[in-house]
Amino acid sequence: MNDGPRLTETQAWQALKAHYEEISGTSLRQLFAEDPTRGERFCAEGAGIFLDYSKNRITAKTLILLVQLARECGLEARRDAMFRGEKINLTENRAVLHTALRVPRGASISVDGRDVVPDVHAVIDRMSDFADRVRDGRWLGCTGKRIKNVINIGIGGSYLGPEMAYLALRPSSQRAMNFRFVSNVDGADFTEATQGLDPAETLFVISSKTFTTLETMTNARTARKWLVDSLGREEAVASHFVAVSTNGEKVREFGIDTANMFGFWDWVGGRYSMDSAIGLSTMLAVGPENFKEMLAGFHAMDEHFRTAPLESNLPAIMGLLTVWYNNFFGAQTMGVMPYASCLKRFPAYLQQLQMESNGKHVDLGGRFVDYETGPIIWGEPGTDAQHSFYQLIHQGTKLIPCDLIGFCRPLSPLDHHHDLLMANMFAQAEALAFGKTAAELTGEGSPDFQTPFRICEGNRPTNVILAESLTPKTLGSLVALYEHNVFTQGIVWNIDSFDQWGVELGKVLAGRIIPELSGAAAPQLGHDSSTNALIRRYRRLKGRD
Ligand code: F6P
Repeated sequence: MNDGPRLTETQAWQALKAHYEEISGTSLRQLFAEDPTRGERFCAEGAGIFLDYSKNRITAKTLILLVQLARECGLEARRDAMFRGEKINLTENRAVLHTALRVPRGASISVDGRDVVPDVHAVIDRMSDFADRVRDGRWLGCTGKRIKNVINIGIGGSYLGPEMAYLALRPSSQRAMNFRFVSNVDGADFTEATQGLDPAETLFVISSKTFTTLETMTNARTARKWLVDSLGREEAVASHFVAVSTNGEKVREFGIDTANMFGFWDWVGGRYSMDSAIGLSTMLAVGPENFKEMLAGFHAMDEHFRTAPLESNLPAIMGLLTVWYNNFFGAQTMGVMPYASCLKRFPAYLQQLQMESNGKHVDLGGRFVDYETGPIIWGEPGTDAQHSFYQLIHQGTKLIPCDLIGFCRPLSPLDHHHDLLMANMFAQAEALAFGKTAAELTGEGSPDFQTPFRICEGNRPTNVILAESLTPKTLGSLVALYEHNVFTQGIVWNIDSFDQWGVELGKVLAGRIIPELSGAAAPQLGHDSSTNALIRRYRRLKGRD
């Protein structure tokens, strides 16, 4: 365990503290006025993604100090250790090797003395063969009908990535097939997803790293009953269920032949798994070639992160800017607004990626941190978001740094819409940065009584992320950009970004409450008075007591 000097005692941290005092009163208007080339200088590019970070409250010195902080925290060495397959997930004693999922065939990365790259490609090959057979009708349901519907059952990392990627890449998907996602244990999720579907044409992909997750296993059992009751034979499971998991034993116990299981490994974290076999539903939707393009995009960003100097390294810069606002400006939250409706689930995907990774309160030495760690991440697509919550970002009292993500070419033939969309994205970044002063408003004829209400202070920071178009490859690069951004933050905060112990307690307590809710006889309750009263009310209203 790492019990070296505390983050706040490092030289770079102290220097950043002093630097913050120097520049926190300087506005983006001033910074742009002082340096007319700023918009071209504070930019970086890699793996097909362009980042304009000029509208951040930083100077060249800020960047130098942030990079110094990263170096003092060992970012480069820890990054290299991750890529080598060292067990950097200390609390679970595991390697962190999602980057191995996208290395080209023929590369070599070893974990516990075994080269994992051939295993990775063997799974991709099996997935590709299966996806081709389902897509071209060689894999049939038990009555001989073609598979028209694919339902992914999974939750957390076994759901958010697949759904996000399916929606993002829908323009390249097999339109003759329906793709649906069941995650919540709320029965409404399953009922709605299967509404109107013919079981004989439906394939369930049960996605769960552990194959023990309550929600997923409940939904999977319901799915099996729905199928078997309708088709009248238990053997139907063989052609209508496949599993994606690391746990062959549990898959077999559930009744799925492991010949129909696609595996991955404990060195792939759930929230880092959309490019593993967990992406099977994505591959079924977009086909193996597009899926491999997506992997190539991930790999391109991995290579950028691994080799580019920190000063021009996109994920490192973004991660360090998050530290800057989170720890020095006290920003509690960050917005992510994709100006692409296909990316509507991207903010939800990033919530798990960032908040499950960096929502930690002890450092790697097991000591409570005396600084803020992961910010709250949220967002919705622009332009919708502009008509709901942007008001608070423009004129509210909280500082909310935002990432605005857009593309130069549309996926839709309606190019005119696209110009309007992108004009809005550029305009929002401009408005947030520069605002509108009282003098400008008066000059434009604003009545005096209205002027104070119309002033926009500006000075609201944004990153603008621009790529050519939302292809599978771009999506891979974009996701890897955020994965390594999150990694950078975690290294600075000296936390384990790859465990998630905080989610366990609630699961255990729910396990205790389940029989108390559903048992026929009134249970003896031993919770606090609030929980006891809620359980009693629930049972009473359900007519159980
Ligand atoms: O409860 C959190 C979590 O463990 C996530 O980290 C994970 O992505 C999700 O549950 C689902 O887990 P599994 O894939 O094992 O069903």
